[in-house]
Amino acid sequence: MYEMKEIKTDELDPEEFIKEKVDEIRQKVGNKIAILALSGGVDSGTIARLGLMALGHNQLKIFFIDNGLMRKDEPEWVFSTFSKEGIPVQIIDAKKEFFAALKGITEPEAKREAITQAFYKVVLPRLIRETDAEFLFHGTILTDIEETVAGIKRQHNILEQIGIDTEKEFGYKLVEPLKQLRKDGVRKVAETLRLPKSIWNRMPFPGPALAARVIGEATPERIEIVRQATAIVEEELKRENAFQCMAILHNDKVTGMQKGKREFGLQIEVRCWDSKDARTATPTKLPYDIIEKLVQRITTEVPSVVSVVENKTPKPPSTMEAI
Ligand code: XMP
Repeated sequence: MYEMKEIKTDELDPEEFIKEKVDEIRQKVGNKIAILALSGGVDSGTIARLGLMALGHNQLKIFFIDNGLMRKDEPEWVFSTFSKEGIPVQIIDAKKEFFAALKGITEPEAKREAITQAFYKVVLPRLIRETDAEFLFHGTILTDIEETVAGIKRQHNILEQIGIDTEKEFGYKLVEPLKQLRKDGVRKVAETLRLPKSIWNRMPFPGPALAARVIGEATPERIEIVRQATAIVEEELKRENAFQCMAILHNDKVTGMQKGKREFGLQIEVRCWDSKDARTATPTKLPYDIIEKLVQRITTEVPSVVSVVENKTPKPPSTMEAI
């Protein structure tokens, strides 16, 4: 059983943690090159700042991999928000590679595995070759490790902890400065690192991105549907201060009506979660008028959607994402 010593959030001294990690990174990487695939979330944003403090721009190269599975306007947002913070990001267009890997796959763990393979075996080796990097920064946190090791979900970024030797298999070593922390601990560190609130307070978003929210095959068309629904859900629920909210596209179709005619259309599920650290979660009690607004907007603005449902199941037995 893989064991990792947790730093509990209420015992965390962020200043001390930052000093320790900067030293550790310098010792581990030495004068070699490292790369970081920035997703734009609090975990990868935090390691970007830590990594640059430790290594500087010449030794740490930061990329945003556009896998085609991101939320609306995400690549632009990441590029401009992080550039303003002195964190330069190069955008890599890898949409084709990811959709090719996902083609025809419907089983949840197989989808996660396909994304992992596209990321680690197709896209990253290219970046490693181009930069001569020997190290890869990972924003892994303790909850990711626990869920994967416990066999609940294979998180995309868990490798060493399930016995994968990244050096042998992929040709690089991992740097994982956050693996003793939980999400609320990372937020404390990110705030201390003076990242803006739009980053440290950002809603979590999973590595497999919108593919985790499409039940069944994640085609470009189905991802686009869930992307549009997600934008509406996030916009309408932003004042709820929930831990996370999301739209999920069902695989089954349902009979509805559009423009007075029968339409065997799509169904979107809305989930909104209260949680401290994602280990357990309860559905947020949303005001009914907000639910009505969501239903009205999703069924009129997202093509082919004729039904919207709200999930009220806690985690456990549910998990937060759909796959
Ligand atoms: P679940 O669905 O396992 O999600 O209850 C718990 C939290 O983890 C996020 N999540 C992921 N994060 N890689 C990540 O970096 C993943 O593969 C992944 N899967 C789920 C999810 O959004 C929630 O915040």
